[in-house]
Amino acid sequence: MKTRILAPTAENIDFCAGLLKSGEIVGVPTETVYGLAANAFDDDAVLKIFKAKGRPADNPLICHVSSLDMFHSLTSDDSAVLKALIKNFWPGPLTVIVKSSVKLSSFAVAGLLTVGIRFSSNRILNSLIDRCGFALAAPSANLSKKPSSTTAFHVYSDFCGKIGAILDGGDCEIGVESTIVKVEGDSCVLLRPGRVTLKMLEMVVGKVKFGRGVLESLGSDEVAESPGLKHRHYSPNAEIVVVKGSFQSFVEYVLDRLNDKVCCVVFDGEQVGFEGDFVLTYGKTVVDQAKNLFSVLRKIDELGFEKAYFRCPSVEGVGLAVYNRLIRAAEFRIVEL
Ligand code: TXA
Ligand code: MG
Repeated sequence: MKTRILAPTAENIDFCAGLLKSGEIVGVPTETVYGLAANAFDDDAVLKIFKAKGRPADNPLICHVSSLDMFHSLTSDDSAVLKALIKNFWPGPLTVIVKSSVKLSSFAVAGLLTVGIRFSSNRILNSLIDRCGFALAAPSANLSKKPSSTTAFHVYSDFCGKIGAILDGGDCEIGVESTIVKVEGDSCVLLRPGRVTLKMLEMVVGKVKFGRGVLESLGSDEVAESPGLKHRHYSPNAEIVVVKGSFQSFVEYVLDRLNDKVCCVVFDGEQVGFEGDFVLTYGKTVVDQAKNLFSVLRKIDELGFEKAYFRCPSVEGVGLAVYNRLIRAAEFRIVEL
């Protein structure tokens, strides 16, 4: 199959809506990361996503809607906490886990009675959903276990020949996946941190509990609240190591270890006086680090490095999401100096 990267013109959006209506899957932009979309009601189409990604069948997909009416057609949950979250953060990078009230594809929800729903702020995606007239099930558009995609080209690299089209919405503004919260009555549990930060959530709904697995690895016999947490995630081929400590101690630690197969990834500005082909950067602020994380993880492989030592991000604000993704990419290899 020839894979076309398409500019987001009205004509191309119509073309992609046609593919989705006929049961095909399409790469789509969002403000967080690119998604791989299918009609959320069509079992065969949804199964194509699992096959293309190599995704475990027990890991449910997020359903994307383009209006509150469409949201209310998928769930009858309507608590005060849910209303407050929607009012403050939609459209935007927040996914809510709620009870499902309609027959979505059982493959999309991995047989669960709940569903993750998100109303993205990306206008290209929303006009595509409008033209389809149904919700789109879309996980991140990357091969299972590998870094997510923040450009149309990343999607192309992973799915060339396997999907018909990718709508090119440019570089994703945020760069890490949506914040996921599970809403049950008055309680709100953070399952995956993202650009909607803990502080932002707590300003709207009061105390937010942390789900197990946000900051640590889950035991092999533990039941994950979010099935995705127990799977390996975001890892390039190279081995990633997260190094905690001062910049000075980081430099001393890595200098002994760098060679043409080993690189390090520091904050922007720190490479001054420490330049070399083996020094990569991923941004100065946590917002920039979120935006660049997946590109740099992909670049480490493109450059042929077999190992990379990362400066550990701050866990403030969206830094918590960067840290959450990075420790998974590192398969929890963390060095404390
Ligand atoms: O920003 C995003 O959320 C991106 C874009 C494309 O929208 N999507 C995304 O999808 O990150 P994915 O499949 O890579 O991650 C979805 C996560 C998985 O960890 C999955 O286990 C969890 O959401 N999830 C989905 N439905 C769930 C449910 N009913 N209960 C608990 N967790 C759920
Ligand atoms: Mg993903």
